[in-house]
Amino acid sequence: MPLSGLKIGFLGGGAMAGAILAGLLKKGIFLPENIYITDISTARLKYLQDSYGVNTSQDNTAVVPEVDIMVLAVKPQITGAVLKEIAGVVKPDQTLVSIAAGISTAMLESYLNTPLAVVRVMPNTPALVGEGVSALCPGSQAGPGDMDRAMAIFNAVGRAVELPEHMMDAVTGLSGSGPAYMFLILEALSDAGVKVGLPRDAALLLAAQTMLGSARMLIEAEGHPAKMKEMVTTPGGTTIEGLYALEQAGLRGTLMKAVEAATRRSRELASGIKS
Ligand SMILES: NC(=O)c1ccc[n+]([C@@H]2O[C@H](COP(=O)([O-])OP(=O)(O)OC[C@H]3O[C@@H](n4cnc5c(N)ncnc54)[C@H](OP(=O)(O)O)[C@@H]3O)[C@@H](O)[C@H]2O)c1
Repeated sequence: MPLSGLKIGFLGGGAMAGAILAGLLKKGIFLPENIYITDISTARLKYLQDSYGVNTSQDNTAVVPEVDIMVLAVKPQITGAVLKEIAGVVKPDQTLVSIAAGISTAMLESYLNTPLAVVRVMPNTPALVGEGVSALCPGSQAGPGDMDRAMAIFNAVGRAVELPEHMMDAVTGLSGSGPAYMFLILEALSDAGVKVGLPRDAALLLAAQTMLGSARMLIEAEGHPAKMKEMVTTPGGTTIEGLYALEQAGLRGTLMKAVEAATRRSRELASGIKS
């Protein structure tokens, strides 16, 4: 087990760190005493300590020497400042896992004085319930052991895939921003349920469980969505009527445009951070 006996430190204890932390604890991957979190907000640290029993500190340089794996989870704009701050205390056998959107492994490495294994990750918020999906890529110094550690962390809070770094903006556009697309679709479907006479709560549950169940069926059967769609579409039946309405309204093209627009924005934001 690549993580057994190791200690992990989150630099930045915000929304995403909280989601990953909760997932790791729920799966029993780390004991609370082997988890450290830093943040500038004492209120946030108190909340995390009270909720999860983890170690907390406002001092990044005090936490880094205590841990084997550091998860950089601050906003992209301040990753440089935090890395410069800890550059003097990192050790060559540590792994730095960065979830900062748009910050390349080369940039992360450039802030540190010592060559350090860096793994860049683009996660998403369903990690909170153990159903996240993350794409990972190694930096120039990261070996198979570092990737194994990082894959184990993100597989514990959902699924993880290794992809080349140049694909990270596309990952952001699809799965990073994806939960918002899914919530929008679920909100629309629950409105639709209300429109055809269902109570709001029941409509939302019916829609959400249908999305969850369909996704699970697809993943577990390793099936093709077109084939699975055909399975529930009888000639002259109800489903084909619904599908026809969706096709007429251009749902496929709309979703493709959404992912393309978010990918483009991710690239713009990343180049803004660099300049
Ligand atoms: N949320 C997502 O869906 C998502 C998805 C993929 C990747 N990410 C990435 O995950 C990272 C964190 O995002 P987030 O949504 O979790 O942001 P967030 O909620 O703002 O979390 C960042 C935390 O770091 C704290 N912080 C600020 N300066 C610090 C310092 N010098 N040392 C330690 N902690 C410090 C912040 O405190 P204050 O709030 O008091 O400033 C905040 O609590 C970002 O780089 C983002 O690109 C997020």
